[in-house]
Amino acid sequence: MKVLNFGSLNIDYVYSVDSTVKPGETIRVNDRQVFCGGKGLNQSIALANAAADVYHAGLIGQDGTMLLDALGKAGVNTSLVRMVEGGSSHAIIQVDRSGQNSILFYPGDNLKVTGDFIDDVLSKFEKGDYLLLQNEVDNTQLIIKMGHEKGLKVVFNPSPIQESIKNYPLHLVDIFVLNEIEGSMLSGRNEPEEILYSMMNLYPDAHIVLTLGEKGALYGYKGQKIFQLAYKAQAVDTTAAGDTFTGFFLAAFIKGNEVKEALDLAARAAAICVSRKGAAPSIPKLSELV
Ligand code: RIB
Repeated sequence: MKVLNFGSLNIDYVYSVDSTVKPGETIRVNDRQVFCGGKGLNQSIALANAAADVYHAGLIGQDGTMLLDALGKAGVNTSLVRMVEGGSSHAIIQVDRSGQNSILFYPGDNLKVTGDFIDDVLSKFEKGDYLLLQNEVDNTQLIIKMGHEKGLKVVFNPSPIQESIKNYPLHLVDIFVLNEIEGSMLSGRNEPEEILYSMMNLYPDAHIVLTLGEKGALYGYKGQKIFQLAYKAQAVDTTAAGDTFTGFFLAAFIKGNEVKEALDLAARAAAICVSRKGAAPSIPKLSELV
């Protein structure tokens, strides 16, 4: 079974700061590093590191060879990544002393995926394959619709969240992986359990995975509820922790592992991720978890 991840590939400019800049303030940066990132790319690498058969579809600019190389090195199939005119999408990330981040994501013109491109990509997949999406490429709602019509199982990580996501055809989603902020916006609730139950009511056929950072994660599906604890880690940089969780959870779920095992694997992978710098380079290999 194949996983198609139709998502962003960003160049991450990561600035180490004592504390993130406040309105009207100028601060001196301690260090700057450049990493491969993008929620799409990070999740593809996490899937491949967790031994899934993953194909990444997306767009890069002419400066994006490093992004392609990072995917290829991890074992992701990159035949559906197209290089277009101009620069790649990028992110400006501040990481403070406690490892917390603030992210500015600049899509530029390079995430404008067209209906023809979507059509061409989907033609390589068949009923029963998985389609993973985040919210960093244009036309995500169309990809959900076209993927579902083709019989693919749709997995949606609604990140970064925005009000307009409520107009996406979310009833076609088979698995949601989302954090508290995203869950709160979609459900209108604030407490984790309330968010979970509200999402389960709104989307009764979908599996809901609600990540809660240091508080762990909750899973719900048709009356079943599971709590997953978070593993302790010395946080250096939390960037890509959610992407790592998503990729490892999905890889294990698809393999037919018990949901409890898939959640546990994802939590262990995310704990390793936060203990390292950068997005893609911080994602562990499966061999580090056994
Ligand atoms: O989830 C982390 C990612 O968000 C970063 O790699 C950055 O590119 C932004 O898309």
